[in-house]
Amino acid sequence: MYTQAMDIPGNETKTPAGSDDPVRAAAFDERTARGEFVEAKDWMPEAYRRTLIRQISQHAHSEVVGMLPEGHWISRAPSLKRKAILLAKVQDEGGHGLYLYAAAETLGVSRDELVDALHAGKAKYSSIFNYPTLTWADIGVIGWLVDGAAIMNQVPLCRCSYGPYARAMIRICKEESFHQRQGYDALYTMMQGTEAQRAMVQDAVNRWWWPVLMMFGPHDADSQHSEQSMKWGIKRISNDELRQQFVDATVAQGKVLGVTFPDPDLCWNEARGHYDFGRIDWREFWNVVNGHGPCNKERLAARVAAWEDGAWVREAALAYAEKHAARQRSVAA
Ligand SMILES: [Fe+2]
Ligand SMILES: [Fe+2]
Repeated sequence: MYTQAMDIPGNETKTPAGSDDPVRAAAFDERTARGEFVEAKDWMPEAYRRTLIRQISQHAHSEVVGMLPEGHWISRAPSLKRKAILLAKVQDEGGHGLYLYAAAETLGVSRDELVDALHAGKAKYSSIFNYPTLTWADIGVIGWLVDGAAIMNQVPLCRCSYGPYARAMIRICKEESFHQRQGYDALYTMMQGTEAQRAMVQDAVNRWWWPVLMMFGPHDADSQHSEQSMKWGIKRISNDELRQQFVDATVAQGKVLGVTFPDPDLCWNEARGHYDFGRIDWREFWNVVNGHGPCNKERLAARVAAWEDGAWVREAALAYAEKHAARQRSVAA
């Protein structure tokens, strides 16, 4: 996961105007306009580098914080099969964080700096993970809708102009599609069960639907980073277009599942060839982004505690690496 909340304002440093060589900057713009990939050692404008550090690090933080709402259910999964699937899925998200922190590091920033910014509450992550997971159906809905929205956002990033990010996204997208299918499968099973199970699925869909639509970020006209990111080939499809694609694909899946969506304005528009849908409550979105969602404090506290509890693992790994290097040196001597 996850997504356009990646390009919301956050730990950014202002780049002094005109700090780049204008001739090189113009050549760079031509290169990205031709659809060429940019690699770590290539010259790049400072603003391009900073935009990518912000986006990739917000993405990495989202993967890692995204492990928390689901990790909460590993010990309570309803069967051994579901437990094994959820364990694998949450582990995948940790791996996604790893590839993305590594991609961000190629831009000249250290993982420690990025993690410090997250733990200090300065860096953003996707607002969706600040909502609670109240029942087992929430785990299915996260897979189906949250990972589904992530796929919609992330498939175009496989063609992002920055090579290390684009290549990380190819592997991530393959795993995300498994995440979506396992969520849908868990919900489908529940929908074949009892009335209480079906009600649980519907309740989870009702609670997650609007926050999931917010994952695509503000409307295009209000999205402050979008235009330049489109020009540089970091972003290929606009927030509103992606949101529409997601709604169009998901409504059909909901019909097969047998659930409804909590939006009285949701209906097929024959003239547009798309579903119309109701107004998003952007006050809620900004409230959550700015730290006042239902679980913001809990998520950050859990993240910091995990980091502190894991200090001995990092120390042991460093000690082992040093011992190994010393042994190599004595063999070579
Ligand atoms: Fe992921
Ligand atoms: Fe995922």
